Formats: sequence, structure tokens, C-alpha cells
Amino acid sequence: MKILITGGAGFIGSHVVRRFVTTYPNYQIVNLDKLTYAGNLENLLDIENKANYKFVKGDIVDADFIQNLFDTEHFDAVIHLAAESHVDRSISNPIEFVMTNVVGTVNLLNAAKTTWKGDYDNKRFYHVSTDEVYGTLGEGTEMFTEETSYDPHSPYSASKASSDHFVRAYHDTYGMDCVISNCSNNYGSFHFPEKLIPLSIHNIKQNKAIPIYGKGENIRDWLWVVDHARAIDVIFHKAKTGSTYNIGGHNEWTNIDLIRTLCKVMDRKLGRPKGESEKLITYVTDRAGHDLRYAIDATKLKEDLGWEPSLQFEEGLEKTVDWYLKNEEWLNNVTSGNYQHYYKEQYQNR
Ligand code: NAD
Ligand code: TYD
Repeated sequence: MKILITGGAGFIGSHVVRRFVTTYPNYQIVNLDKLTYAGNLENLLDIENKANYKFVKGDIVDADFIQNLFDTEHFDAVIHLAAESHVDRSISNPIEFVMTNVVGTVNLLNAAKTTWKGDYDNKRFYHVSTDEVYGTLGEGTEMFTEETSYDPHSPYSASKASSDHFVRAYHDTYGMDCVISNCSNNYGSFHFPEKLIPLSIHNIKQNKAIPIYGKGENIRDWLWVVDHARAIDVIFHKAKTGSTYNIGGHNEWTNIDLIRTLCKVMDRKLGRPKGESEKLITYVTDRAGHDLRYAIDATKLKEDLGWEPSLQFEEGLEKTVDWYLKNEEWLNNVTSGNYQHYYKEQYQNR
């Protein structure tokens, strides 16, 4: 089986590529990534020389390039993660989100449709999406299920919702074998330090302010990225065609409680007096259209396919902090932009 994984140089994509390359040596894995600011081949140094792995630099918005790639590589399946993924960036530059997340997804669907010519036996298009398409919950105990209506608020979530609709349209209209999963907030290694957890780890280390939007009362449901990659593996192999699965950790935190817990862990790891890092917490202007609460009901995934998170959050957070403290060079390269200079030179002619 030859699988195209898009966005494999990003945070979650790199964990998915690693899992598939190492767990299934008989699969050929092609990682297609544009290497935007969020794409970093240093995330894959441990597997880049494996015989069943290949990297291709390219843009999913370029329809001709994508069709050519499908014509040459004859993929059996696609696991699509490439996206613009940061809500704050979507607020300042929505068009880029429409291009990559919507047009890019439709280009991939089209190329798969043209290549597979209506024969979807042993073919699969797996679209990786987010719980943010469901909009926001109140402070109660309600959770997002697979039946919750879409109600996106940010340009990011609107673009992801639109891409989900296109994937369903290709299943319903052309009979393409498609599956979708909608996951909650991920955390773990190789997470770009513009997102809450890695940004805060970085800032605490540097003794810089930790920006908390609004009052810090917004709630997110955090899942260890390795557990997300495990879920994608199970869904890819076992889900029925046309199905959707929510993926989440049953692990809700207000941003402020999460950051206070992180500060305690950081004080301990850095040998600082208790309470030292908390002094860096700085309340800043709230994000426009900031969703109050996300919470995933992942019962369907547990009951149908037996998946459950493997790690408690406290343990996962410790592991994540340890990883960032140990991988100083990765963090320095990312924050200085060095990783991009190196790879831009290496791949500029492709
Ligand atoms: P990321 O921003 O870390 O990585 C995205 C990757 O896509 C990067 O490597 C980037 O270079 C690549 N890319 C961007 N535009 C491209 C283009 N036009 N052509 C080819 N490659 C391109 O994102 P992530 O956090 O790893 O998220 C991966 C996927 O999972 C996204 O689809 C996102 O919506 C979804 N998701 C993320 C979370 C989360 O908490 N991060 C949760 C649920 C779902
Ligand atoms: P983020 O990591 O950007 O993920 P998402 O917006 O996709 O949920 O943000 C997680 C939460 O943390 C969200 O409620 C916004 C908040 N936040 C801050 O308070 N400060 C920050 O500097 C960032 C990046 C996010």
C-alpha cells in the first residue's frame, strides 16, 4: 500500500508519519509538505532515512502539481493533514486559510477521484479535522458528538468546516471512500511555539511574559499528540466508509488553570522557587470571536473501534516539558527561523 500523508512535516503530521513508517514497514509513505513556517523536517530526523519513507516538497493549492504527483505515484490512500492551523493567523490572513484548507483539500479530492476513476476498492481518503468546526459550548457539561451541527466562528474553523463538507460531498456524490475525524486540542513534542502550551514553556524558560487572552476562562480539551496518531491509525484501518469520528481526551482545562499547573511543573524542573514562573502570567486583550469551551465526546470511537487515550494529562505535560527542555536546539532553531533557511536552500529547486 502506498499512502500519501500531507502536512507530515508539521506537528501532528510528523507524529502520524513516524507511526506509519515505523509500525508498517510494508507500506510506502510519501510525505507531501509545502514547508511553510509550520513545516520542519527536523521533526522527522529519526525516520528520514527509512526505506519506506519519501519526502516531497509541494503545495496542495497547485492543482497541476498534485495531479502529476498522483499520476506518478499511484497512491492507494491519502491521510490529509496539511493545513494552515493557527486561529490567530486566520484572523489576520483569512485568504491563506481558504486557499490551503479549502482549495487545497478539493485539489486532493479531485486528483484522487481522477486517479481512482470511481473504483474505490482498497482506496481511502482520510481527512483530519478539528472539533472547532462545531463552534463553542457553554460552561455546562454538554459535549460535541458526531451529530452536533457545524457552527464555526473563526476563519480557521470556517475553512476546516468547509473542507469537511467537501470531503462528505465527494463521498455522497462520487462514492469515494472517505472518512473524517474531528479532534480536540493536541499537545506534545514538535509543537510550534505559537500555540498556548509550547509558547508558554518557551516564555517561562526565557523569563518572558506568558500572554493569557481575556480572563483565561476559556476551556479546551487536551489530548496527547501520540494518542491522536494512534486514533488516526485505528480509524484509517477500521472505520466504515463515509464515517466520522470525534477524538478527545476527556480532559478539560481552563487556560488559566492549565498555565498555573504548567508554571508549577516548570518551577520544579528549572529549580526555581515555588510561585516564581506564575509571576510571568500577563492578561492581554482577548482573541476576537474567542470560543468559550470545547469538549469532545469520544464514546463512538471507544465503542466502535476500542480506542482510548493512553496517558493522563499530568504525565503527558511532564513528558512534554521534559522534551522541550531536552531539545533546546530544536526550539532555538524554530524560534530563530534557522530551520527554514536550511531547508529552503536544500529544496529550493524542487
Ligand atoms: P501544523 O500547522 O503544525 O502543520 C501543518 C503542516 O501543513 C505544516 O507542515 C505545513 O508546512 C503544511 N502545509 C501548510 N500549507 C500547505 C500547503 N498549501 N501545501 C502543503 N503543505 C502545507 O498543524 P497541526 O497542528 O499539525 O495540524 C495538522 C492537522 O490537524 C490540520 O489539518 C489541523 O486542522 C488538524 N488538527 C489540529 C489540532 C491541533 O491541536 N493542532 C487539533 C485537531 C485537528
Ligand atoms: P491555541 O493553542 O491557539 O489553540 P486553539 O485556539 O486552536 O484552541 O489556544 C488555546 C487556548 O489558549 C485558546 O483558548 C486561546 C488561548 N491562548 C492564550 O490565552 N494565549 C496565547 O498566547 C495563545 C496562543 C492562546
